[in-house]
Amino acid sequence: MLDKTKRGWWRSAVFYQIYPKSFQDSNGDGIGDIPGILSRLDHLQKLGVDGVWLSPVYASPQADNGYDISDYRAIWPPMGTMEDMETLIAEAKKRGISIIMDLVLNHTSDQHAWFRQALKSRDDPYHDYYIWRDGGPDQPPNDMRAVFGGPMWTYVPHLGQYYFHQYAVQQPDLNWANPAVRRELYDMIRFWVDKGVEGFRLDVIDSIAKDPDRKITGNGPRLHEFLRELSREAFCEEGLVTVGEAWGADVERAKRYSTPDGSELSMVFQFEHMCLDQRPGGEKWDPIPLPLPALKRCVERWQRGLHGQGWNSLFLDNHDLPRIVSRWGDEGKYRVESAKMLATMLHGLEGTPYIYQGEELGMTNIRLPIGAYQDIETKNLYAERLARGDDPQAVMASIYARSRDNARTPMQWSAEKNAGFSQADPWLPVNPNYKTINAQAALADPGSVFYYYRDLIALRKRYPVFRDGAFTLLEPESEELFVYTRETEGEQLLVVCNFTGRTIPYQRPAAFARAALLLGNYGRGDGALGPYEARMLYQRRWP
Ligand code: GLC
Ligand code: CA
Repeated sequence: MLDKTKRGWWRSAVFYQIYPKSFQDSNGDGIGDIPGILSRLDHLQKLGVDGVWLSPVYASPQADNGYDISDYRAIWPPMGTMEDMETLIAEAKKRGISIIMDLVLNHTSDQHAWFRQALKSRDDPYHDYYIWRDGGPDQPPNDMRAVFGGPMWTYVPHLGQYYFHQYAVQQPDLNWANPAVRRELYDMIRFWVDKGVEGFRLDVIDSIAKDPDRKITGNGPRLHEFLRELSREAFCEEGLVTVGEAWGADVERAKRYSTPDGSELSMVFQFEHMCLDQRPGGEKWDPIPLPLPALKRCVERWQRGLHGQGWNSLFLDNHDLPRIVSRWGDEGKYRVESAKMLATMLHGLEGTPYIYQGEELGMTNIRLPIGAYQDIETKNLYAERLARGDDPQAVMASIYARSRDNARTPMQWSAEKNAGFSQADPWLPVNPNYKTINAQAALADPGSVFYYYRDLIALRKRYPVFRDGAFTLLEPESEELFVYTRETEGEQLLVVCNFTGRTIPYQRPAAFARAALLLGNYGRGDGALGPYEARMLYQRRWP
């Protein structure tokens, strides 16, 4: 177990993300819940993770699966009770697992009491909790487009005003310029800290300081001022871990977010590496094959840029992204090999790794008929693209490749009915491949993706070079291999990954002649690299 009284303990930690709706249903209503999570803590303990980032479990009308919160201090009843939540926090802690809550501070649900109050009149004190502009029914303040499609402005006839929302119509943006809003949010955070929560993931945190009149959404002028205040007022506790989701972060910005003096956040989720396999100038819906040299240069820039000056989080999967094996690996013949290879590439890096539920099983994307998709973004995209005359088959191809529901299908626990997720029909269909890809099968197989992740987690705990080592990229131009080293004064690590389904000749660098194999998905340290082969070689340095 990690000693969490140590400052910066999260630098040695590995986290696991749970999407509660899809993790484990305990009462047969087809929806995952908190008691379900409780019943699966053993799985997490076996894996060896130090914390869980829990996607939202708060009261919510579920327009965006809980990222639309109607009461920050209550649990959505199908998810369980406050008592269940307290039990989860306590039981997880006993197993050395910290609970990290998801904080959605940029917007609330339109069903939140603040917003309902705000709708009453322009003079209501809560009115100014949100962002309004005057206008006539067909004259929105400007032409900004919401992330989930449609305009960023929605008209409220009885007020003669538009409210601003960067995401869905049901997710009105909070007005961070109003100090009363900030105070409410800080109090709410303390409520959860008092319950024993040990950290927070901050949803789209780079959007809070918006300035719609200047069409600014991300990285607004007061962003870092707000973050420092938030940190001072709400995260004052030593040891709390905070991770900000920041799609608009570059290396320089990330240094500010995660400055080692702790005045803002512990670390950032940045997405530069996840945006390389889309058509330049296009959207995420327009995928292209991964340009490996571009990925390597991107990783190198972040590794070197933040070394000693900030802290990155490491991830390839989350609830908004398609499954990485289907995306950059091979979901067919080399599913197991490629899942392990991608994990090796990621877990050798500097930063705090996050594993998304099912990633440790090598779970894959899904293809559903359009009517079965639940994600608001997917549904809106389909309607929008058809309305503009796109070919439905092409739109479905985009959805198969990129829909967020790829990641949200129920966790595959066993070969039993509904993958052991629920007795009832799940809210989103189970991937039909659950009979072969499931936790029970993985635990029974020493060569499974699960045990490989467990080994990677254990290595990070054992060798300081994983936390501290300086990164050097080797063979930057190779279109097939991703090779890098990590080095401290006392240790050297060499990571070699074959990103193709072909055998690629390889010879380790002379400086690593004596190095031993720490971990590899083919169990060998030398010779040509097999399809999706990965190796981690290690040696101590003697003076
Ligand atoms: C974040 C969440 C995503 C959500 C959005 C709006 O990007 O990860 O799931 O839809 O914010 O809250
Ligand atoms: Ca349930």
